[in-house]
Amino acid sequence: LIHLLSPEGLSRDILTHILDTASNFVSVNDREVKKLPLLRGKSVFNLFFENSTRTRTTFDIAAKRLSADVFTLDIGRSSTAKGETLLDTIDNLSAMAADIFVVRHSESGAPYLIAKHVAPHVHVVNAGDGRHAHPTQGLLDAYTIRHYKKDFTNLRVAIVGDVLHSRVARSDIHALLALGCPEVRVVGPRTLVPSDLAHMGVRVFHNLEEGIRDCDVIIMLRLQNERMSGALLPSSQEYFKSFGLTPERLQLAKPDAIVMHPGPINRGVEISSAVADGPQSVILAQVTFGIAVRMAVMSIVAGNEA
Ligand code: CP
Repeated sequence: LIHLLSPEGLSRDILTHILDTASNFVSVNDREVKKLPLLRGKSVFNLFFENSTRTRTTFDIAAKRLSADVFTLDIGRSSTAKGETLLDTIDNLSAMAADIFVVRHSESGAPYLIAKHVAPHVHVVNAGDGRHAHPTQGLLDAYTIRHYKKDFTNLRVAIVGDVLHSRVARSDIHALLALGCPEVRVVGPRTLVPSDLAHMGVRVFHNLEEGIRDCDVIIMLRLQNERMSGALLPSSQEYFKSFGLTPERLQLAKPDAIVMHPGPINRGVEISSAVADGPQSVILAQVTFGIAVRMAVMSIVAGNEA
C-alpha cells in the first residue's frame, strides 16, 4: 500500500492488517497511544482544502506520535487564494521535501490527481474527497466496531441518514463488506437513500424503525446541507420526526447495540442528545481510535511499520 485513497478494492487481509497495526499502537487502557520513532525524519503535510475538526487534528496528533515533522498549511491564508493551482501547490511543497500528503478536498478525485502527480517516494492519504471516499473514517469505524463487537461475521449494521452525499457511508460500506460483515443496511428518505444503492451489496430501507430493528451497530449520518440543492433539503424538524434517533427508537435495535456517528453531530436533527450522550453511544471513542488508525495508515504507506 503506497497511498490510501479509498477502501474500495482493498482486501480483507490488508484491512485487517491496518486494524491490527492500529491496535498495536494502543496501550492497555485501550485509549492511550504510545509515542514511536517510526516516521522520525519524515515530513507530513496536512492539506485541508475543506473544513475539519476531528480528521485534521487526529492526523496531526498521529504524525507527531510517530515522531514525524508535521506542517499544516492554512489554506485560507495560502496562495491558493491568489489562484495557485492544486498541483503547483503540491510541487512547491514537494520541493520542501514532503514525504506524506494528507489531503481533504471538496472535489471528488483530488487526492487521486495528487497521487498520480507526485514522485514515487511520496505518499498520499485521502482525508475525505467530495462525496467519494473517507477511507480513514471507514477504517476507524471498522476498528471501533471490532473493538466493541469482537468480529464482523455475525453483525447487522445500519447506516442511517444522508447516504447519498456521504463519503463516510461509501467508505464504511466498502470496508465492512470486505471485512466480512454479512448485513449492511442503508436507511433514510428516498431522496437521500436511492434504491439503486443496493448495487453496493447493501439492503435499502426507507423507514427508520424497520431499518434499525435488531441491529448490532447503528451509524448515524449528518445531513450534508453543503452538498444539497434546495429541492433535497428537508426541514430539521421534519427530518427528526421521521429519521431522528431517539431513546425510544433505539430500543428497536439489539439491547447491546452501539451508536456511532462520524461527527460533527447535529443534535435534534439526526440524533437526540439523550442518544448521543447516552450509554450506548461510542461517538467519542471513535475519535480517540482515529489517532491509532491514522498512525497505522501513515506508517504502513511509508513502509515503516512497527
Ligand atoms: N468525521 C470527520 O471527518 O469529521 P471532521 O470533518 O471534523 O474532520
